[in-house]
Amino acid sequence: MEYGCNGCGDFRTSALSIRNVDGNTVTDMRYEGYRIYAGKPSIDPLPAVYLNSESEADTLEIDMADKVTGMRVTLIYTAFNSLDVIIRSARIENASQRPADIDRAMSMCVDLPGMDYDLITLYGRHCKERSEERRPLAHGLQGIASKRGVSSHCQNPFAALVSKNADENSGEAYGFNLVYSGNFEFCTECDYSGTSRILMGINPTDFTWHLEPGESFQTPEAVMVHTSKGIGEMSRIYHKLYNFNLVPGKYRTEKRPLLINSWEAAFFDFDTDKLVSFAERAKEFGMDMLVMDDGWFGKRDGDCSGLGDWDVNETKLRGGLGKLVDQVRSLGMQFGLWFEPEMISEDSDLYRSHPDWAIRIPDRAPMRSRYQLLLDMTRQEVQDYLYEKISGVLHSAAISYVKWDMNRSISDWYSATLPAAQQGELPHRYVLGLYALLERLTAEFPDVLFEGCSGGGGRFDAGMLYYCPQIWCSDDTDAYERTRIQYGTSMIYPISAVGSHVSVVPNHQTGRITPMETRGITAMAGSFGFELDLQKLSEEDKKTVAAQIKQFKEYGPLIHGGKYYRLSDPFTENSAFWSFVAQDDSEVLVQGVVFRTAPNMRRKALRLAGLCPESRYQDTASGEIYTGAALMHGGLLLPQTWGDYCPVMFP
Ligand code: GLA
Repeated sequence: MEYGCNGCGDFRTSALSIRNVDGNTVTDMRYEGYRIYAGKPSIDPLPAVYLNSESEADTLEIDMADKVTGMRVTLIYTAFNSLDVIIRSARIENASQRPADIDRAMSMCVDLPGMDYDLITLYGRHCKERSEERRPLAHGLQGIASKRGVSSHCQNPFAALVSKNADENSGEAYGFNLVYSGNFEFCTECDYSGTSRILMGINPTDFTWHLEPGESFQTPEAVMVHTSKGIGEMSRIYHKLYNFNLVPGKYRTEKRPLLINSWEAAFFDFDTDKLVSFAERAKEFGMDMLVMDDGWFGKRDGDCSGLGDWDVNETKLRGGLGKLVDQVRSLGMQFGLWFEPEMISEDSDLYRSHPDWAIRIPDRAPMRSRYQLLLDMTRQEVQDYLYEKISGVLHSAAISYVKWDMNRSISDWYSATLPAAQQGELPHRYVLGLYALLERLTAEFPDVLFEGCSGGGGRFDAGMLYYCPQIWCSDDTDAYERTRIQYGTSMIYPISAVGSHVSVVPNHQTGRITPMETRGITAMAGSFGFELDLQKLSEEDKKTVAAQIKQFKEYGPLIHGGKYYRLSDPFTENSAFWSFVAQDDSEVLVQGVVFRTAPNMRRKALRLAGLCPESRYQDTASGEIYTGAALMHGGLLLPQTWGDYCPVMFP
């Protein structure tokens, strides 16, 4: 029952389903033996949580076998010593003399006694990612999934089972998160006996995997967290684990560059002079990096053409990329640029020379999305082409950052290189191809900061975080909307991973007008950057931006390195408040937004959390001193607000 199998008396949804050579789908895995050792095995070629030292965790491997078919399973559990985390995955091996096909192989299967839990998931859509949804567990099946080829805007590969009374600071919470960027499924099945089966892994729909004798299949990892200290503590465990055991390279600990991005400032309409002028202004404000977004390559003045042609457009960038990068760097700024490697426009030189590289069914008109098709990432020649192009660009100039975008869901699944019986392998092979390319490029450019993106936050998952220390959270940059999107994202993903920028008002996505301070406070609760034409700011806004940058330079280490507390719920309350508490509890920064102001408002006290009750904390703005106990039980009296979307900050 530890890894429920199909067709042998366990009638619930199974973790494993294998089609044997004669077509029967019965598997009966029985325990054979186990090993326990210090450390954690690699599950190459998949991204995985890593250890910094062997003493951080121990691993248990359980061997199981079906004596009739000869199929074997190894269940892998890594338990952390100082964090309440268990990582699970499974390896399925064909130890028989005949081929077999896997129809379903989940990363984890847990049977929890009882069903007195609520299920929390994160649903959404483009520009509205990761909204929290909480519902009671019920008899039968419940769950979430993606069939979009990516983890998706619509459901994140995360779910939590929490006790009925669980809130941010108390109650039981079990978290489940998949380290995977493709099709996934999470489901619960509560049966007649009141047991809750929990399954998470690659979505079995559109999935098969063929195993010849001697071959094996490794599932992605599921990260399981448990706490009895509430939903907030579950998030902080994930944040800590992902900050130190998942995010790659030097940016794990190093300060992230404060950047200005050209997209909402200029869209496709820029040239070298305009970009250099953006960099000059940004430098005056103390920013660190200019990012040139979409539009710098091939024939790309709009959405309809150019993807795949990763050669600099010298009509826009006269003198080439090197000249632009040199000019930006001579100002003392770093330079970054945008790619959307997995895509191909039909109006591109690449498509004209390799139409068969696109994922499509030969005799069917493909479904287009944002006018583009996808490259078949399973093909070695496609991976090699992208590697040559991207590494060529990165070697050609001093580039410090890459935004790796992916702007559509995948449909028309068909690969010209796979046999008919193995077309069901394409969705997973696509993800493996993507990871292989990211592995090659991040190994070759360890100092380049890769930021993930997918039409905003459509592929915000732990698989991408393994390569990209930060991921663009949403194309919705409206500060009010962002308080909700970032609230949901913070359920699992660390604050430093949340790509967030200040943009113009009226906002490009909603038309809403929010104060500059509010936009700054919201963007600061993330990687922090700007995405507007600084030259067009009013004198007053310029002063505010300068002050925000100064603040971020001071508080950035606390924001990215502290413990994150959600203090109010923007989905149900008239405000979003959050705080960052230093790891040693010595400092706290409180930030938030009050959405609607009314005359003669009752002033509310905001209760803080996670402080040392006996310590004294000083509000450095007012000079008031409070004990931690007073702040946690009595609270901070919020000011009278003026105007809607009013920013509040207690440093
Ligand atoms: C996506 C991204 C944006 C921007 C555009 C460029 O929508 O989410 O940030 O890069 O593509 O086309």
